[in-house]
Amino acid sequence: APRRQGERQTPLASSSLDLTVRPRRNRKSEWARRLVRENVLTTDDLIWPMFVVDGHNTRTPVASMPGVERLTVDQIVRDAERAARLDIPCIALFPFTEPSLRDEEGSEALNPDNLVCQSVRAIKREFPDLGVLCDVALDPFTSHGHDGLIADGKILNDETVAVLVRQALTQAEAGCDIIAPSDMMDGRVGAIREALDDNGFGEVQIMSYAAKYASAFYGPFRDAIGSAKTLTGDKRTYQMDSANSDEALREVELDIAEGADMVMVKPGMPYLDIVRRVKDTFAMPTFVYQVSGEYAMIAGAAANSWIDGERAIMESLVGFKRAGADGILTYFAPKAAEKIKAGA
Ligand code: PBG
Repeated sequence: APRRQGERQTPLASSSLDLTVRPRRNRKSEWARRLVRENVLTTDDLIWPMFVVDGHNTRTPVASMPGVERLTVDQIVRDAERAARLDIPCIALFPFTEPSLRDEEGSEALNPDNLVCQSVRAIKREFPDLGVLCDVALDPFTSHGHDGLIADGKILNDETVAVLVRQALTQAEAGCDIIAPSDMMDGRVGAIREALDDNGFGEVQIMSYAAKYASAFYGPFRDAIGSAKTLTGDKRTYQMDSANSDEALREVELDIAEGADMVMVKPGMPYLDIVRRVKDTFAMPTFVYQVSGEYAMIAGAAANSWIDGERAIMESLVGFKRAGADGILTYFAPKAAEKIKAGA
């Protein structure tokens, strides 16, 4: 309403704006916010990564990932049961390989009785309907901590792909449902697809770490699998430069052409723009990995009461959905699923 000159007004009345459009109306109450909510996180969106270690009936905390533990195979089965109970569709397995079993070639990756294969068989025996994803790369098995074979200080591409193909077949034979190459070698998706098809594993899916960046946020993961201290140099000759975005589209395009069923962007939070571009460009099932360093930041700040951990977790996860992700690999999966199930 127009104000008359000189009229005395209370401070409240005098600050009344003549607005037709007031976006806050749609936020006035919880039911109203629910009604217009654009993205919802469900348990179907979650993949739970787990660390497996040799031994029996033991859970060892990972210091840089408060709340995450390395589990012996029997304990992995118990967490798989928890995943199934929480309606988490899929888990992902990463091994801590005994240092004595690591060598230059990562040969333990090809052992059909290694920790990953043992875990897959044990989980599938008890929970055949739970999806199991296996990472393909040599870093948990090499003495130098790199994802591939090395000669003269260089990571060999084609020779590495030949080994990765055998690693993928070993995991498929153990009963793994999704093969997830995280190594960033050129041409590995096509080679793995062909080998799977030729060996009767036509139903095994491939989720490629298509746009995987050379990132400081993998630090705690390397602690967890015991490659942090042994890693020589960095992974910049195969993982992507964090300054690049168009390059991610070229990588994703190649992996799709080579037969990837699903593609992944990694890390997550610093790369939400990449998730959005990939989803918009290819309309493929698009996944994102909230990596160990992202976990450590949230869990560490929450442990110090610097942020509200529960809210930060859910905010970070719905942020991935908003960016276009169809699913999220996250160490917060059980916590988030519990919260979702509780209706919070
Ligand atoms: C192995 C691999 C890595 C991660 C997943 N697979 C580490 C790396 O590339 O050095 C990182 C996951 C995380 O940080 O949570 N190639």
